[in-house]
Amino acid sequence: MASSQIKRNTQLLLCIFLYRLMISWGLDQGSLAITPPRGWNSYDSFSWIITEDEFLANAQIMANKLKSSGYEYAVVDFLWYRRNAPGASFTSPGFDVIDEWGRPVPDPARWPSTAGGKGFAPIAAKVHAMGLKFGIHVMRGISTAAVSKNMPILGSPVGRRWTAQDIALTSRPCSWMPQCFLSVNTSTEGGKAFINSLYQQYASWGVDFVKLDCVFGEDDMSLDEITTVSKAIVNTGRPMVYSLSPGVRATPSMGKLVNNLAHMYRVTSDDWDIWNDVQSHFDVARDFAAAGLIGALGLQGGHSWPDLDMLPLGWLTDPGANQGPHRSTGLTPDEQKTQITLWAMAKSPLIYGGDLRHIDQATLSLITNSVILDINSNSFGNAEIAAASSTDNEALPVLNLVACEQATNTSWAIRNAESPGANDYLCWRVPEVINRAGELAHCLNWTVSSRAPISLYKKRGATEVGAHILQRGIAHLWSADAGNICLDSFHDRQGAVANSERITSKLFSSCSKQRSQTWQLTSKGELKSTSNSGLCAAIDAQINTARIWAARGTQGQYYVAFFNLGLKASTVSIPLDKLIRSQNLAYGSELSGSTAATSCTGIDVWSNQGTGIFSGILSATVPSHGCKLYSLTCGSN
Ligand SMILES: *[C@@H]1O[C@H](CO)[C@@H](O)[C@H](O)[C@H]1NC(C)=O
Ligand SMILES: *[C@@H]1O[C@H](CO)[C@@H](O)[C@H](O)[C@H]1NC(C)=O
Ligand SMILES: *[C@@H]1O[C@H](CO)[C@@H](O)[C@H](O)[C@H]1NC(C)=O
Repeated sequence: MASSQIKRNTQLLLCIFLYRLMISWGLDQGSLAITPPRGWNSYDSFSWIITEDEFLANAQIMANKLKSSGYEYAVVDFLWYRRNAPGASFTSPGFDVIDEWGRPVPDPARWPSTAGGKGFAPIAAKVHAMGLKFGIHVMRGISTAAVSKNMPILGSPVGRRWTAQDIALTSRPCSWMPQCFLSVNTSTEGGKAFINSLYQQYASWGVDFVKLDCVFGEDDMSLDEITTVSKAIVNTGRPMVYSLSPGVRATPSMGKLVNNLAHMYRVTSDDWDIWNDVQSHFDVARDFAAAGLIGALGLQGGHSWPDLDMLPLGWLTDPGANQGPHRSTGLTPDEQKTQITLWAMAKSPLIYGGDLRHIDQATLSLITNSVILDINSNSFGNAEIAAASSTDNEALPVLNLVACEQATNTSWAIRNAESPGANDYLCWRVPEVINRAGELAHCLNWTVSSRAPISLYKKRGATEVGAHILQRGIAHLWSADAGNICLDSFHDRQGAVANSERITSKLFSSCSKQRSQTWQLTSKGELKSTSNSGLCAAIDAQINTARIWAARGTQGQYYVAFFNLGLKASTVSIPLDKLIRSQNLAYGSELSGSTAATSCTGIDVWSNQGTGIFSGILSATVPSHGCKLYSLTCGSN
């Protein structure tokens, strides 16, 4: 064994020792989220309309089939307090059930056990009896239902009776639910008292996990509320995992502001079962890994985890829909493997989103794969170690929304289809893209108004976006693969367009008749929102199609994942010396000497086949949108 190898091995053992010490220290403290939390969340399959029976049925299946794989948090997602009555939707005010202190309580029609002031306590008790933990989603600040009735605040400090209107900040609504939720002024005694009253109530119900939404990411960053809630959770004395959402254009510097206040925080906008969403996680996961934020110190001595969002696999609904599960995931088997492999390598929390009553064997095997779970819980040194544009692959188009003055790189045009009167195409050109494929140009379908009003089509690959005309020249753009969802400009966001140079939003939401979802082709070739958002659709070309991630396991193994984001199968490879050097760098030790003599052996995880002994280079053909995952043991010859 060369001395450099001995030095490396010594460093590795030291690193493993420190890592284990860190874990056992955390456990001794009773800290939470020592490894990335796992569980089930109702949003991807039930949107907001889930009922008690549906929730408990899912929790019971999680207890039976997933608990042994570490899935423990059963989480009710948003609007459990909203009455599911005619006219109610995820953006409608006036349907929220609140108590005499302006706090949301479960809608008793959907959650019958909670009636009579019991709140979620009976549900939490049932979930605990299954051996699981119980979680809830909550929105920022205060419901406008409490503000309009000017409800009193529980626990007002002596000498002043605070009310909802004293603390609500009408200037700070949630950007994507502005009629329903307002921030509260956390600098006031009343604002603090209100937030404390919420978390005292959650603790009294037996809540173990809180996902606080509309407080993080570029559109809604609310460090004051994130901090006040963090203190309120500690004040309850009850251990609760604290999760922040959403993560629109989240950056590592935003992550560093919150990591020790919470246990997990989203780093992208919502992830749905469209390839564009999976692909959009690669850069952000790389950046948070490189910033050292994976497993950084979290709330109360726990750890914190950049969260890539739920896994929209299996049996699903559509974003924000007034509808339960009714369709299968739009991701192909290769795309699903890519998703869970990236989520594992980036140590994201694993929160399954599909309806567990309909989970199939293939999906179950995917999310309970023992190597995936070991990587997710126990690996370290996790990083993207190489990225390359493959000669075989054209540049990848990614649809974005930008301020129109910045959308100069994409020009849109209508091109007639071959047969007159049939579909026209809406095509884009990105002339300034510098890559091997030269100028990037593709088309979307565009159905003329004289034809049937809605003509959906399904298209895989390029952008997975379709278009149909509502009136001449005005179109809805929708993602055919994720069900009935439309490109949305979110024109309600106040003042953001003029001030921010990096405009973005959740790109898609449920199709509605709202103007924020209609788009017009201008004579300048802009595809412009017809609302007052000032947003245009633009295509960014992303040219690094091959991505390689690596990490170390606690037995000294190297985990290597090859991803191919391209449109064609492609060969991905890495020299073993580069792999080993990257991992030495990842845990801070210096490389000395050559590693050219290294050879490795191990398994190809997804095919469960041995690799045999090899040296020099690891190389594989990876299908389009697919991945390869290896667990390797390496040493000197
Ligand atoms: C919040 O309350 C403080 C203290 O009363 C006040 O100075 C501040 O202006 C308020 N903030 C907003 C945004 O209204
Ligand atoms: C347009 O493309 C050029 C070349 O890739 C790039 O330098 C420039 O930043 C792009 N402009 C915008 C507004 O995206
Ligand atoms: C547009 O849709 C039609 C009908 O579904 C399909 O045959 C055609 O290939 C599509 N064109 C493009 C450019 O996707």
